[in-house]
Amino acid sequence: MFVSRILRLMKLLLDIARELADEAGFDPNIISDRHLETALHRRRHQTREPTEHTYALRVQRDAEERTELLEELLVRESWFFRDTAPFTLLTEIAKTRWQRNPSLRVLSAPCAGGEEPYSIAITLAARGIPPTAVQIDAVDLSRRGLAQAARGEYGARAVHAVPPALRDAWFHAREGGHVAIVPSLRDRVSFHRANLLCLPAILTTRTYDVIFSRNAFIYLSVAARDQVIDQFEQLLAADGVLFVGHAEAALLRGRAFAAYGPLGAFAFTRSQTTARALTPSSVSATGTAAPTQAAPLRTVGSPSATPARRKPMPLLARARDLADIGAYAEAGVLLVELITHQPFLTEAQYLLGLVRAAEGHLTEARRCFERAIYLDPEHAPSLRHLALLVAAGDNDSPMAHRLHARASRRESTP
Ligand SMILES: C[S@@+](CC[C@H](N)C(=O)[O-])C[C@H]1O[C@@H](n2cnc3c(N)ncnc32)[C@H](O)[C@@H]1O
Repeated sequence: MFVSRILRLMKLLLDIARELADEAGFDPNIISDRHLETALHRRRHQTREPTEHTYALRVQRDAEERTELLEELLVRESWFFRDTAPFTLLTEIAKTRWQRNPSLRVLSAPCAGGEEPYSIAITLAARGIPPTAVQIDAVDLSRRGLAQAARGEYGARAVHAVPPALRDAWFHAREGGHVAIVPSLRDRVSFHRANLLCLPAILTTRTYDVIFSRNAFIYLSVAARDQVIDQFEQLLAADGVLFVGHAEAALLRGRAFAAYGPLGAFAFTRSQTTARALTPSSVSATGTAAPTQAAPLRTVGSPSATPARRKPMPLLARARDLADIGAYAEAGVLLVELITHQPFLTEAQYLLGLVRAAEGHLTEARRCFERAIYLDPEHAPSLRHLALLVAAGDNDSPMAHRLHARASRRESTP
Protein backbone atom coordinates (compact mmCIF):
# COMPACT_ATOMS: atom_id res chain seq x y z
CA MET A 1 0.00 0.00 0.00
CA PHE A 2 2.74 2.41 1.11
CA VAL A 3 5.03 1.25 -1.70
CA SER A 4 2.33 1.62 -4.33
CA ARG A 5 1.62 5.18 -3.12
CA ILE A 6 5.29 6.08 -3.46
CA LEU A 7 5.36 4.54 -6.94
CA ARG A 8 2.26 6.53 -7.92
CA LEU A 9 3.90 9.72 -6.65
CA MET A 10 7.11 9.01 -8.51
CA LYS A 11 5.09 8.41 -11.66
CA LEU A 12 3.22 11.68 -11.16
CA LEU A 13 6.49 13.59 -10.70
CA LEU A 14 8.02 11.90 -13.72
CA ASP A 15 4.95 12.81 -15.80
CA ILE A 16 5.25 16.45 -14.78
CA ALA A 17 8.97 16.52 -15.61
CA ARG A 18 8.33 14.75 -18.93
CA GLU A 19 5.67 17.33 -19.79
CA LEU A 20 8.20 20.12 -19.22
CA ALA A 21 10.77 18.29 -21.36
CA ASP A 22 8.16 17.80 -24.11
CA GLU A 23 7.30 21.49 -24.07
CA ALA A 24 10.97 22.28 -24.66
CA GLY A 25 10.92 19.76 -27.53
CA PHE A 26 13.46 17.36 -26.01
CA ASP A 27 14.04 13.95 -27.51
CA PRO A 28 13.18 11.34 -24.85
CA ASN A 29 16.15 9.28 -26.09
CA ILE A 30 18.47 12.06 -25.04
CA ILE A 31 16.68 13.52 -22.04
CA SER A 32 15.78 10.12 -20.61
CA ASP A 33 13.76 9.16 -17.52
CA ARG A 34 17.08 8.87 -15.67
CA HIS A 35 17.80 12.56 -16.43
CA LEU A 36 14.32 13.47 -15.20
CA GLU A 37 14.75 11.46 -11.97
CA THR A 38 18.10 13.14 -11.30
CA ALA A 39 16.54 16.57 -11.85
CA LEU A 40 13.63 15.76 -9.52
CA HIS A 41 16.02 14.45 -6.88
CA ARG A 42 18.17 17.60 -7.07
CA ARG A 43 15.17 19.93 -6.82
CA ARG A 44 13.68 18.05 -3.88
CA HIS A 45 16.96 18.51 -2.01
CA GLN A 46 17.39 22.14 -3.07
CA THR A 47 13.85 22.98 -1.91
CA ARG A 48 14.42 20.98 1.32
CA GLU A 49 11.12 19.22 0.86
CA PRO A 50 11.16 16.38 3.41
CA THR A 51 9.47 13.76 1.22
CA GLU A 52 8.56 12.95 -2.37
CA HIS A 53 4.99 13.59 -1.37
CA THR A 54 5.55 17.16 -0.17
CA TYR A 55 7.68 17.90 -3.24
CA ALA A 56 4.97 16.50 -5.52
CA LEU A 57 2.41 18.79 -3.86
CA ARG A 58 4.71 21.75 -4.28
CA VAL A 59 5.50 21.11 -7.93
CA GLN A 60 1.80 20.69 -8.71
CA ARG A 61 0.69 23.97 -7.22
CA ASP A 62 3.74 26.14 -7.82
CA ALA A 63 4.49 27.33 -11.38
CA GLU A 64 7.73 28.87 -10.12
CA GLU A 65 8.94 25.44 -8.98
CA ARG A 66 8.13 23.95 -12.39
CA THR A 67 10.33 26.63 -13.98
CA GLU A 68 13.14 25.68 -11.59
CA LEU A 69 12.66 22.02 -12.43
CA LEU A 70 12.87 22.83 -16.13
CA GLU A 71 16.15 24.66 -15.47
CA GLU A 72 17.62 21.40 -14.21
CA LEU A 73 16.89 19.82 -17.61
CA LEU A 74 18.52 22.53 -19.72
CA VAL A 75 22.13 21.97 -20.74
CA ARG A 76 23.64 25.45 -20.78
CA GLU A 77 27.19 24.42 -21.65
CA SER A 78 28.69 27.23 -23.74
CA TRP A 79 31.78 29.37 -23.99
CA PHE A 80 32.98 32.49 -25.80
CA PHE A 81 34.21 31.93 -29.36
CA ARG A 82 33.09 28.33 -29.32
CA ASP A 83 34.81 27.02 -32.49
CA THR A 84 36.94 29.40 -34.54
CA ALA A 85 35.62 28.89 -38.06
CA PRO A 86 32.07 30.28 -37.58
CA PHE A 87 33.41 33.54 -36.19
CA THR A 88 36.03 33.84 -38.92
CA LEU A 89 33.29 33.33 -41.52
CA LEU A 90 31.03 35.81 -39.71
CA THR A 91 33.79 38.39 -40.07
CA GLU A 92 33.85 37.82 -43.84
CA ILE A 93 30.08 37.97 -44.13
CA ALA A 94 29.89 41.17 -42.08
CA LYS A 95 32.58 42.81 -44.17
CA THR A 96 30.81 41.94 -47.42
CA ARG A 97 27.36 43.00 -46.23
CA TRP A 98 28.58 46.13 -44.60
CA GLN A 99 29.81 47.35 -47.99
CA ARG A 100 26.41 46.64 -49.56
CA ASN A 101 24.00 47.55 -46.82
CA PRO A 102 24.93 49.28 -43.58
CA SER A 103 22.66 47.29 -41.32
CA LEU A 104 22.87 43.74 -40.11
CA ARG A 105 20.39 41.63 -38.16
CA VAL A 106 21.71 38.64 -36.23
CA LEU A 107 19.86 36.06 -34.13
CA SER A 108 21.54 33.80 -31.58
CA ALA A 109 19.03 31.13 -30.58
CA PRO A 110 19.69 29.51 -28.19
CA CYS A 111 22.17 31.79 -26.49
CA ALA A 112 22.70 30.04 -23.08
CA GLY A 113 24.43 32.56 -20.73
CA GLY A 114 25.18 35.09 -23.48
CA GLU A 115 28.58 33.65 -24.47
CA GLU A 116 27.62 33.26 -28.14
CA PRO A 117 25.81 36.59 -28.82
CA TYR A 118 28.52 38.52 -26.96
CA SER A 119 31.14 36.75 -29.10
CA ILE A 120 29.15 37.84 -32.17
CA ALA A 121 29.03 41.44 -30.90
CA ILE A 122 32.79 41.42 -30.21
CA THR A 123 33.50 39.95 -33.67
CA LEU A 124 31.45 42.64 -35.42
CA ALA A 125 32.92 45.44 -33.31
CA ALA A 126 36.45 44.19 -34.05
CA ARG A 127 35.51 44.48 -37.73
CA GLY A 128 34.74 48.17 -37.19
CA ILE A 129 30.98 47.83 -37.56
CA PRO A 130 29.30 50.40 -35.30
CA PRO A 131 26.72 49.06 -32.82
CA THR A 132 24.02 51.28 -34.33
CA ALA A 133 24.30 49.33 -37.58
CA VAL A 134 23.75 45.95 -35.94
CA GLN A 135 20.74 44.40 -34.25
CA ILE A 136 21.65 41.29 -32.26
CA ASP A 137 18.76 39.35 -30.74
CA ALA A 138 19.44 36.45 -28.40
CA VAL A 139 16.95 33.86 -27.20
CA ASP A 140 16.96 31.13 -24.60
CA LEU A 141 14.46 29.27 -22.48
CA SER A 142 16.73 29.31 -19.46
CA ARG A 143 16.03 32.00 -16.92
CA ARG A 144 19.33 31.22 -15.19
CA GLY A 145 21.17 31.55 -18.50
CA LEU A 146 19.59 34.93 -19.22
CA ALA A 147 20.32 36.12 -15.68
CA GLN A 148 23.97 35.29 -16.23
CA ALA A 149 23.92 37.14 -19.57
CA ALA A 150 22.50 40.19 -17.77
CA ARG A 151 25.21 40.00 -15.08
CA GLY A 152 27.88 39.45 -17.74
CA GLU A 153 30.13 37.53 -15.32
CA TYR A 154 31.90 34.33 -16.26
CA GLY A 155 34.44 31.81 -15.01
CA ALA A 156 37.83 31.24 -16.61
CA ARG A 157 36.59 28.24 -18.59
CA ALA A 158 34.03 30.37 -20.46
CA VAL A 159 36.70 32.70 -21.82
CA HIS A 160 39.52 30.23 -22.49
CA ALA A 161 39.13 30.59 -26.29
CA VAL A 162 38.99 34.41 -26.38
CA PRO A 163 42.06 35.82 -28.15
CA PRO A 164 44.16 37.83 -25.62
CA ALA A 165 43.73 41.18 -27.41
CA LEU A 166 39.94 40.81 -27.37
CA ARG A 167 40.00 39.70 -23.77
CA ASP A 168 41.91 42.84 -22.77
CA ALA A 169 39.49 45.04 -24.72
CA TRP A 170 36.17 43.52 -23.69
CA PHE A 171 36.58 41.97 -20.22
CA HIS A 172 37.55 43.17 -16.76
CA ALA A 173 39.37 40.76 -14.47
CA ARG A 174 37.58 39.72 -11.29
CA GLU A 175 38.71 37.64 -8.34
CA GLY A 176 39.48 33.96 -8.72
CA GLY A 177 40.09 34.05 -12.49
CA HIS A 178 36.54 35.27 -13.14
CA VAL A 179 35.84 38.03 -15.64
CA ALA A 180 33.08 40.57 -16.32
CA ILE A 181 32.25 41.95 -19.74
CA VAL A 182 32.56 45.71 -20.24
CA PRO A 183 29.12 47.31 -19.74
CA SER A 184 28.94 48.67 -23.30
CA LEU A 185 29.01 45.11 -24.65
CA ARG A 186 25.87 44.24 -22.72
CA ASP A 187 23.96 47.03 -24.51
CA ARG A 188 24.74 45.53 -27.90
CA VAL A 189 22.54 42.45 -27.41
CA SER A 190 18.77 42.24 -26.79
CA PHE A 191 17.95 39.14 -24.77
CA HIS A 192 14.57 37.40 -24.83
CA ARG A 193 13.29 34.46 -22.82
CA ALA A 194 11.42 32.26 -25.29
CA ASN A 195 10.93 28.73 -26.50
CA LEU A 196 12.66 28.03 -29.83
CA LEU A 197 9.59 26.08 -30.89
CA CYS A 198 7.52 29.21 -30.92
CA LEU A 199 9.40 32.49 -31.04
CA PRO A 200 7.52 35.64 -30.03
CA ALA A 201 6.21 38.04 -32.68
CA ILE A 202 8.78 40.66 -31.73
CA LEU A 203 11.44 38.39 -33.25
CA THR A 204 9.55 37.12 -36.25
CA THR A 205 8.32 40.25 -38.00
CA ARG A 206 11.57 40.77 -39.93
CA THR A 207 14.17 38.47 -41.38
CA TYR A 208 17.73 37.92 -40.13
CA ASP A 209 20.93 38.14 -42.18
CA VAL A 210 22.67 35.68 -39.87
CA ILE A 211 21.20 33.06 -37.53
CA PHE A 212 23.35 31.14 -35.06
CA SER A 213 21.48 28.08 -33.80
CA ARG A 214 24.17 25.84 -32.43
CA ASN A 215 24.09 22.89 -30.09
CA ALA A 216 20.37 22.75 -29.41
CA PHE A 217 19.06 20.59 -32.28
CA ILE A 218 21.00 17.65 -30.85
CA TYR A 219 18.69 17.62 -27.82
CA LEU A 220 15.44 17.97 -29.77
CA SER A 221 13.05 15.34 -31.07
CA VAL A 222 12.70 15.02 -34.84
CA ALA A 223 9.31 16.80 -34.77
CA ALA A 224 10.60 19.67 -32.62
CA ARG A 225 13.73 20.02 -34.72
CA ASP A 226 11.65 20.15 -37.92
CA GLN A 227 9.46 22.84 -36.36
CA VAL A 228 12.48 24.97 -35.42
CA ILE A 229 14.16 24.50 -38.81
CA ASP A 230 10.87 25.44 -40.57
CA GLN A 231 10.80 28.59 -38.50
CA PHE A 232 14.41 29.45 -39.33
CA GLU A 233 13.68 28.90 -43.01
CA GLN A 234 11.05 31.62 -42.70
CA LEU A 235 13.26 33.89 -40.63
CA LEU A 236 16.45 33.71 -42.68
CA ALA A 237 16.84 36.48 -45.26
CA ALA A 238 16.97 35.29 -48.88
CA ASP A 239 20.76 35.58 -48.85
CA GLY A 240 21.19 34.96 -45.11
CA VAL A 241 23.51 32.46 -43.43
CA LEU A 242 22.52 29.88 -40.82
CA PHE A 243 25.20 28.49 -38.49
CA VAL A 244 24.59 25.17 -36.73
CA GLY A 245 26.70 23.09 -34.32
CA HIS A 246 29.39 20.72 -35.55
CA ALA A 247 27.26 17.66 -34.91
CA GLU A 248 24.14 19.19 -36.44
CA ALA A 249 25.02 19.81 -40.10
CA ALA A 250 23.74 16.37 -41.09
CA LEU A 251 20.33 17.33 -39.69
CA LEU A 252 19.86 19.88 -42.48
CA ARG A 253 20.14 17.14 -45.09
CA GLY A 254 17.04 17.10 -47.26
CA ARG A 255 16.12 20.64 -46.25
CA ALA A 256 16.31 23.73 -48.47
CA PHE A 257 19.83 24.61 -47.40
CA ALA A 258 23.22 24.48 -49.09
CA ALA A 259 26.49 24.33 -47.20
CA TYR A 260 28.42 27.57 -47.35
CA GLY A 261 32.02 28.46 -46.52
CA PRO A 262 34.54 26.20 -44.79
CA LEU A 263 33.45 22.75 -43.66
CA GLY A 264 34.36 23.57 -40.05
CA ALA A 265 32.04 26.61 -39.97
CA PHE A 266 28.91 24.45 -40.43
CA ALA A 267 27.22 27.35 -42.20
CA PHE A 268 24.32 27.16 -44.66
CA THR A 269 22.44 29.40 -47.04
CA ARG A 270 19.17 28.72 -48.79
CA SER A 271 19.91 26.22 -51.52
CA GLN A 272 18.43 28.37 -54.28
CA THR A 273 20.73 31.24 -53.29
CA THR A 274 23.30 32.01 -55.98
CA ALA A 275 26.94 32.83 -55.46
CA ARG A 276 26.05 36.45 -56.21
CA ALA A 277 24.13 36.80 -52.97
CA LEU A 278 27.16 36.37 -50.76
CA THR A 279 30.70 36.94 -51.78
CA PRO A 280 32.14 33.54 -51.06
CA SER A 281 34.36 33.02 -48.09
CA SER A 282 38.09 33.11 -48.50
CA VAL A 283 38.78 31.93 -45.01
CA SER A 284 39.51 28.41 -43.86
CA ALA A 285 38.37 26.71 -40.69
CA THR A 286 41.74 27.36 -39.16
CA GLY A 287 41.42 31.07 -39.86
CA THR A 288 44.23 31.07 -42.43
CA ALA A 289 43.88 32.76 -45.78
CA ALA A 290 42.47 30.28 -48.24
CA PRO A 291 42.88 30.01 -52.01
CA THR A 292 42.86 33.27 -53.89
CA GLN A 293 40.03 32.33 -56.23
CA ALA A 294 36.48 32.54 -54.95
CA ALA A 295 35.29 29.35 -53.28
CA PRO A 296 31.86 28.63 -54.76
CA LEU A 297 28.80 27.84 -52.73
CA ARG A 298 28.69 24.11 -52.31
CA THR A 299 25.66 21.95 -51.89
CA VAL A 300 25.96 19.05 -49.48
CA GLY A 301 27.17 16.10 -51.45
CA SER A 302 28.31 18.01 -54.53
CA PRO A 303 32.00 18.80 -54.33
CA SER A 304 32.96 21.59 -56.62
CA ALA A 305 36.10 23.57 -56.06
CA THR A 306 39.60 22.61 -57.03
CA PRO A 307 42.42 23.50 -54.68
CA ALA A 308 44.61 26.34 -55.84
CA ARG A 309 47.18 26.12 -53.06
CA ARG A 310 49.61 23.29 -52.61
CA LYS A 311 52.24 24.65 -50.30
CA PRO A 312 53.94 22.02 -48.19
CA MET A 313 52.01 21.38 -44.98
CA PRO A 314 51.02 18.32 -43.01
CA LEU A 315 48.61 16.10 -44.88
CA LEU A 316 45.88 16.46 -42.30
CA ALA A 317 45.90 20.27 -42.49
CA ARG A 318 45.92 20.11 -46.29
CA ALA A 319 43.00 17.71 -46.27
CA ARG A 320 41.12 20.03 -43.94
CA ASP A 321 41.75 22.99 -46.23
CA LEU A 322 40.48 21.02 -49.20
CA ALA A 323 37.37 19.95 -47.34
CA ASP A 324 36.84 23.56 -46.32
CA ILE A 325 36.58 24.69 -49.93
CA GLY A 326 34.28 21.82 -50.84
CA ALA A 327 36.92 19.73 -52.63
CA TYR A 328 35.68 16.58 -50.88
CA ALA A 329 37.02 14.09 -53.42
CA GLU A 330 40.56 15.48 -53.16
CA ALA A 331 40.34 15.72 -49.37
CA GLY A 332 39.17 12.10 -49.26
CA VAL A 333 42.13 10.93 -51.36
CA LEU A 334 44.59 12.67 -49.04
CA LEU A 335 42.91 11.32 -45.93
CA VAL A 336 42.87 7.75 -47.22
CA GLU A 337 46.56 8.11 -48.05
CA LEU A 338 47.25 9.50 -44.60
CA ILE A 339 45.28 6.76 -42.86
CA THR A 340 47.08 4.08 -44.88
CA HIS A 341 50.36 5.26 -43.38
CA GLN A 342 49.07 6.31 -39.97
CA PRO A 343 45.98 4.23 -39.19
CA PHE A 344 45.81 5.47 -35.58
CA LEU A 345 45.09 9.13 -36.30
CA THR A 346 41.70 9.81 -34.72
CA GLU A 347 41.38 13.26 -36.30
CA ALA A 348 41.99 11.85 -39.79
CA GLN A 349 39.27 9.23 -39.30
CA TYR A 350 36.91 11.89 -37.98
CA LEU A 351 37.61 14.30 -40.85
CA LEU A 352 37.16 11.50 -43.38
CA GLY A 353 33.80 10.81 -41.71
CA LEU A 354 32.77 14.45 -42.20
CA VAL A 355 33.91 14.36 -45.80
CA ARG A 356 32.04 11.12 -46.54
CA ALA A 357 28.91 12.51 -44.86
CA ALA A 358 29.17 15.70 -46.94
CA GLU A 359 29.46 13.53 -50.06
CA GLY A 360 26.31 11.67 -49.01
CA HIS A 361 28.14 8.37 -48.33
CA LEU A 362 26.55 7.83 -44.95
CA THR A 363 27.48 4.19 -44.41
CA GLU A 364 31.12 4.97 -45.05
CA ALA A 365 30.86 8.07 -42.83
CA ARG A 366 29.49 5.89 -40.07
CA ARG A 367 32.42 3.48 -40.35
CA CYS A 368 34.89 6.37 -40.11
CA PHE A 369 33.27 7.73 -36.95
CA GLU A 370 33.24 4.21 -35.48
CA ARG A 371 36.96 3.86 -36.19
CA ALA A 372 37.64 7.28 -34.64
CA ILE A 373 35.76 6.21 -31.51
CA TYR A 374 37.62 2.91 -31.45
CA LEU A 375 40.88 4.90 -31.40
CA ASP A 376 39.62 7.44 -28.88
CA PRO A 377 36.49 6.28 -27.03
CA GLU A 378 35.98 9.83 -25.72
CA HIS A 379 36.15 11.67 -29.05
CA ALA A 380 32.99 13.73 -28.52
CA PRO A 381 32.51 15.07 -32.10
CA SER A 382 32.69 11.51 -33.50
CA LEU A 383 30.30 10.27 -30.80
CA ARG A 384 27.81 13.01 -31.72
CA HIS A 385 28.04 12.43 -35.47
CA LEU A 386 27.73 8.68 -35.10
CA ALA A 387 24.72 9.15 -32.80
CA LEU A 388 23.01 11.31 -35.41
CA LEU A 389 23.70 8.84 -38.20
CA VAL A 390 22.41 5.97 -36.07
CA ALA A 391 19.32 8.00 -35.11
CA ALA A 392 18.70 8.84 -38.78
CA GLY A 393 18.01 5.13 -39.34
CA ASP A 394 16.15 4.52 -36.10
CA ASN A 395 15.02 7.51 -34.12
CA ASP A 396 14.40 5.42 -30.99
CA SER A 397 17.77 3.76 -31.11
CA PRO A 398 19.17 3.11 -27.61
CA MET A 399 22.61 3.12 -29.20
CA ALA A 400 22.15 6.72 -30.38
CA HIS A 401 21.06 7.60 -26.88
CA ARG A 402 24.14 5.98 -25.36
CA LEU A 403 26.46 7.72 -27.82
CA HIS A 404 24.92 11.13 -27.08
CA ALA A 405 25.23 10.46 -23.35
CA ARG A 406 28.91 9.57 -23.74
CA ALA A 407 29.54 12.73 -25.77
CA SER A 408 27.73 14.86 -23.16
CA ARG A 409 29.82 13.34 -20.36
CA ARG A 410 32.99 14.10 -22.30
CA GLU A 411 31.90 17.66 -23.19
CA SER A 412 31.05 18.47 -19.59
CA THR A 413 34.50 17.37 -18.41
CA PRO A 414 36.84 20.38 -18.41
C1 LIG B 1 24.36 23.71 -25.15
S1 LIG B 1 23.60 25.29 -25.05
C2 LIG B 1 24.14 26.00 -26.56
C3 LIG B 1 24.42 27.48 -26.46
C4 LIG B 1 25.16 28.10 -27.63
N1 LIG B 1 24.33 28.18 -28.81
C5 LIG B 1 26.43 27.37 -27.92
O1 LIG B 1 26.52 26.68 -28.94
O2 LIG B 1 27.37 27.46 -27.11
C6 LIG B 1 21.91 24.84 -25.34
C7 LIG B 1 20.94 25.90 -24.89
O3 LIG B 1 19.67 25.60 -25.48
C8 LIG B 1 18.67 26.08 -24.60
N2 LIG B 1 17.41 25.45 -24.99
C9 LIG B 1 17.13 24.13 -25.01
N3 LIG B 1 15.87 23.94 -25.46
C10 LIG B 1 15.37 25.15 -25.76
C11 LIG B 1 14.12 25.59 -26.28
N4 LIG B 1 13.15 24.74 -26.59
N5 LIG B 1 13.94 26.91 -26.45
C12 LIG B 1 14.93 27.80 -26.14
N6 LIG B 1 16.14 27.44 -25.64
C13 LIG B 1 16.35 26.12 -25.46
C14 LIG B 1 19.21 25.69 -23.24
O4 LIG B 1 18.63 26.46 -22.22
C15 LIG B 1 20.70 25.97 -23.40
O5 LIG B 1 21.03 27.25 -22.93
